[in-house]
Amino acid sequence: MKEKPTIAPPTGRLGVLLPGLGAVATTYIAGLLLARRQQGKLFGSVAEQAHIRLGPRAAKRNPKIRDILPLANIDDVVFGGWDIFPDNAFEAARKAGVLSAEHLKEIESELSAINPMTGAFDRDFVKKLDGPHVKAGARNQMAKALFDDIERFKAEHRCDRLVMVWCGSTEVHHQAEDVHQSLTAFEDSLDSDDRRISPSMLYAYAALKLGIPYANGAPHLNNEIPALRELADATKTPMMGKDFKTGQTLIKTILAPGLKARMLGVHGWFSTNILGNRDGEVLDDPGSFRSKEVTKSSVLDTIFQSDVYPELYGDIYHKIRINYYPPRGDEKEAWDNIDLFGWLGYPMQLKVNFLCRDSILAAPVVHDLVLFLDLAKRAGLSGVQEWLGFYFKSPLTIDQLPPEHDLFIQQLKLKNTLRELAGEVPITHLEDR
Ligand SMILES: NC(=O)c1ccc[n+]([C@@H]2O[C@H](COP(=O)([O-])OP(=O)(O)OC[C@H]3O[C@@H](n4cnc5c(N)ncnc54)[C@H](O)[C@@H]3O)[C@@H](O)[C@H]2O)c1
Repeated sequence: MKEKPTIAPPTGRLGVLLPGLGAVATTYIAGLLLARRQQGKLFGSVAEQAHIRLGPRAAKRNPKIRDILPLANIDDVVFGGWDIFPDNAFEAARKAGVLSAEHLKEIESELSAINPMTGAFDRDFVKKLDGPHVKAGARNQMAKALFDDIERFKAEHRCDRLVMVWCGSTEVHHQAEDVHQSLTAFEDSLDSDDRRISPSMLYAYAALKLGIPYANGAPHLNNEIPALRELADATKTPMMGKDFKTGQTLIKTILAPGLKARMLGVHGWFSTNILGNRDGEVLDDPGSFRSKEVTKSSVLDTIFQSDVYPELYGDIYHKIRINYYPPRGDEKEAWDNIDLFGWLGYPMQLKVNFLCRDSILAAPVVHDLVLFLDLAKRAGLSGVQEWLGFYFKSPLTIDQLPPEHDLFIQQLKLKNTLRELAGEVPITHLEDR
């Protein structure tokens, strides 16, 4: 057995900082508050629910992940966040319309006590929103204000450790430029108030500079830029992104590996969605939609490996639509039509109609990321955490390697990393043939 890595114990309080107190963030917070009162279960969370096989099959060891690793306890978590609207978490959750009035009533006082700090915002990056609860000043002043917010929050809530997960809106699509290429260039451009530094980068910068593990739940350009990778390495901070893998893309990365495993070809994959929450409204802007389109599209390209299998996947037509439809709120509906073919090229069709709830699928992802990033930090891991790619539509990789999108390979990597952290050997399923 490998020597067990040293992991500092999760003593004291863990502060969870969430830029963007919208549907996802409030559903996550409410879930933990309800679970603490035994009023709800954290279904969908691997960290809370999953078991993990250890050793040979004959040993029949299958404990819960939580029982073999020192994960933070949900009773020790405190919440903070920022938003460009001043609504407290109760008001924001009520407006998001995800959880029932009865559920929210149970935890009204705790949610109402969570007031967002003013957001670092620039309307050029989220054209559909214009909130009054924002920080004034140039880029470097906003960054300084974020540092102050974090230090104040940590002191007020007597936190031992912090984790930050971006749950804010999707910013417009833009490419990494010279200002993003090194930490020096990035910090210089903060001082000159360069508008190519997005608000979400300011949050990531503040977190990583202070050694706070960070994840980006949205699809836009953020902590993957070389400057912030350099910063994460310098401060030995674990980080990951981007774009939570939920809903349609989750199903895509379950189905596509199955079709490919059986060498069934695909001519076309048409995906469309209707959703009516604020996220849907933001994605109605072509710039923000473009960020989403890029992360959603890349999934099939890498799973199908059209360069290796040109006859099966070389001419696949992959089309993605997101339609803002207010009556549906957070209860998104997704349709997929897959035109596939088999033996001798005979065509078949597969239709998927997923009536999902966006934030109900995203909340456990936030929870697992919080627990696992905090664990990673205490285990001395830093930089991009590829083993958490399981949770993202467009997983960051080290050294610009191509990402793995197949959910089952991602799960193997996640579980084997957890085994190693617990001082156990990885499982390849060949050890006890
Ligand atoms: N729900 C899902 O299944 C899912 C899946 C993948 C990605 N995401 C992404 O997660 C993010 C959150 O989704 P949501 O449904 O909660 O959206 P939401 O619109 O309900 O919440 C986002 C919040 O961020 C705030 N905000 C925007 N810019 C900000 C800034 N600069 N600083 C502070 N706050 C800011 C908005 O005011 C809003 O309250 C979105 O980017 C979305 O694309 C969600």
